[in-house]
Amino acid sequence: MFKPIDSRAARQLPTVAIHIDGRAVRVAAGQPLATALLAEDALPLRYTAVSGAPRAPLCLMGVCFECLVEVDGRRNVQSCMVEVREGMQVRRLNGAPRAGGMV
Ligand code: FES
Repeated sequence: MFKPIDSRAARQLPTVAIHIDGRAVRVAAGQPLATALLAEDALPLRYTAVSGAPRAPLCLMGVCFECLVEVDGRRNVQSCMVEVREGMQVRRLNGAPRAGGMV
């Protein structure tokens, strides 16, 4: 879906290792976690509690709250507002409670 404009230049960027739902991936350092998740096609990040609709980052500037994930055990972190860092453990909120019970 999202690809760097110049893939050769992207390959030369420093990277960090993060884990997405236990899967180790290397992503470009210095970027927001939300863009790394988009580039890794790790979507949806969660489902709405009311309708169960899938959600993904939208504004990428801390306004919409559509990018919530668990980071290093802390739930409901806005992934567009944190920078990727070495060893970051990310979990999508696919098991979040829905109205009327658990998923
Ligand atoms: S993408 Fe909108 S708050 Fe993160």
